[in-house]
Amino acid sequence: MNYRVRVHDRRTGQIHETQVSGDRYLLESLEDLGLDLPSACRHGCCTTCAMRVRSGALDQREVMGLSPALQAEGYALICSSYACSDLELETQDEDEVYQLQFGRYFARAQRRWWQWRLPLDHD
Ligand code: FES
Repeated sequence: MNYRVRVHDRRTGQIHETQVSGDRYLLESLEDLGLDLPSACRHGCCTTCAMRVRSGALDQREVMGLSPALQAEGYALICSSYACSDLELETQDEDEVYQLQFGRYFARAQRRWWQWRLPLDHD
């Protein structure tokens, strides 16, 4: 099934509107149409592709790097999401969702690697 998607690109001020298929990842569909959108891992982990969902519904079952709370607040990782309805999306500033997702863990205190119990061999 195809859905109408409108993307508000905050970086350029442009609005793009197109049709996407509900059985393809949203990022891939938008890139095929020529949109230059931020991405990195492309596996739903890093939050680089995060967008704000102004309206509509996405299937985010494959997303690993975005909490259910942030999904409920209207954020989506479009590299690992499928459109389930017509959508209106808005790009995010670099690191905006990363800070919401992970910032509180790293900014709370100056911690050393052993305080996180991470097996890192540098610091
Ligand atoms: S590109 Fe990393 S979460 Fe989408």
